[in-house]
Amino acid sequence: MNNDFLWWRDGIIYQIYPRSFADSNNDGIGDLPGIISKLDYLQGLGVDAIWLSPIYPSPDVDFGYDVADYTAIDPKFGTMADFNKLVKEARKRDIHIILDLVLNHTSDQHNWFIESRKSKDNPYHDWYLWHDPRPDGSPPNNWAAIFGGSAWEYDPDLGQYYYHMFYKEQPDLNWRNPDVRAAMLNVFRFWLKKGVDGFRLDVFNEYFKDAELRDNPRKPGLRAFDRQKHIHDVSQPEMYPLLEEIRGILDRYKETYVVGETFLADTERTASYCGEDKLHAAFNFDFAKNHWHPKRFLDSAEKWYAALGAGAWPNNFFSNHDMVRAASRYCFGEEDGRAKVALALLLTLKGTPFIYYGEEIAMRDIPIRRKADVLDPIGRTFWPFHKGRDGCRAPMQWNAGQNGGFSEADPWLPVNADYPKRNVVNQNADPNSTLNFFKQLVAVRKAEPALQRGAFKALTEDPHTLLAFERSLDKDQLVVVLNFTSRELDYDLPEGKWQPVFGEAVRTGQTVHILPYQVLIYKK
Ligand code: GLC
Ligand code: CA
Repeated sequence: MNNDFLWWRDGIIYQIYPRSFADSNNDGIGDLPGIISKLDYLQGLGVDAIWLSPIYPSPDVDFGYDVADYTAIDPKFGTMADFNKLVKEARKRDIHIILDLVLNHTSDQHNWFIESRKSKDNPYHDWYLWHDPRPDGSPPNNWAAIFGGSAWEYDPDLGQYYYHMFYKEQPDLNWRNPDVRAAMLNVFRFWLKKGVDGFRLDVFNEYFKDAELRDNPRKPGLRAFDRQKHIHDVSQPEMYPLLEEIRGILDRYKETYVVGETFLADTERTASYCGEDKLHAAFNFDFAKNHWHPKRFLDSAEKWYAALGAGAWPNNFFSNHDMVRAASRYCFGEEDGRAKVALALLLTLKGTPFIYYGEEIAMRDIPIRRKADVLDPIGRTFWPFHKGRDGCRAPMQWNAGQNGGFSEADPWLPVNADYPKRNVVNQNADPNSTLNFFKQLVAVRKAEPALQRGAFKALTEDPHTLLAFERSLDKDQLVVVLNFTSRELDYDLPEGKWQPVFGEAVRTGQTVHILPYQVLIYKK
């Protein structure tokens, strides 16, 4: 490995949804000892960091994204001793730990909220957004909740409403209260002291809302939530100085990282939160949500690079715990051609690759057929228009054994029925599998600093079938060619002498013959 290697810029980040990765005690729910037992696998993949979706005590209305205690481990995932062991064992393998901080809202079972609703003079009352009704008894303003209905929930005992952007069991904190701010900044310090290397901030640009509670203007839209312009309930200017403060806390530790999940924000707004005294990076949903077309991906990536200022580094992802998996969106049947090209994009474009567990074997979503089976609150509320997010949260497919090797008990969500074929053990044995494709490409990326932090230049203008680009660093120059189609194509390499470093192709002079969904990399 080269000396300038910086894990969060040059490495690969792997998102684990802890409920679904590996179940060590056979209760059907993944846990920390399960993750520890898979660290060798992750090291073998070439992963440099793992981001764990929330592992804190939670009543699981939103499966961990409703936190009841920020500085403890939920017993279903294990103990603090297990967590300490995970940090230690991960470090031995050069794997960094990124925790998911959900600081916009708590669970309604968090002690702070339980206190806050006791009375208006309770010391915790002002920790949340409590407001009196309007004279006619209606909510303080027109703000809507993204999980359905008004964002205001009436508490008859108090005679006041509290605000929640998500479920009513997820009351939003009052970040203007200095005690809340101080408590939250201490959460960062607590986990940094434990050896955590970074954080993913859940919907961070939602922390502040308009102090005057002005109504959002109306606009046409399908759901009530979409029928307003969200200008007063999200992305308020107070977020910038707060990010500076957070970054200041992180910068006291070596090589720490913070990546934000922006909410209802376009590329430019998302980029505005990244930089030297802000976030290291944020998630660019514009890229992830593209249809299968090389020009779309190229345009999104170039827009992202152009929007990011100095001190920020791009990142790229296709899948996470909130959206249909890339392989389900892009592939036909059990064919993995497009899944491989998508993985290659993540590993070769400029930007830190974020891989969602199972993406390396091109796991597909499980089908969600009946409302009665849905666990995710979004699916239960919006069925059948939105079937919820259970599909992409199914257990990891390790082997062809019982429940895909995830657990000996009935898992909390069913394992995809394709597990007897699609699993880690089978793909390890198959030289043409997506898993081996991924591992080989990771090895090339690790050997070539230009593929990590090199400059990016598109070589195909207006690409419709094939995308080619250059990555260069110092004297190194590499060309990446990706065939987005199921047809064989020819590509003319730029001037110069090029040696293949990934993929084999028939070549006549500068012209290479590229097979369907093939990925080729050349070095000058
Ligand atoms: C984020 C999370 C999502 C959660 C929501 C509310 O978008 O990724 O899973 O439901 O925030 O916390
Ligand atoms: Ca378990």
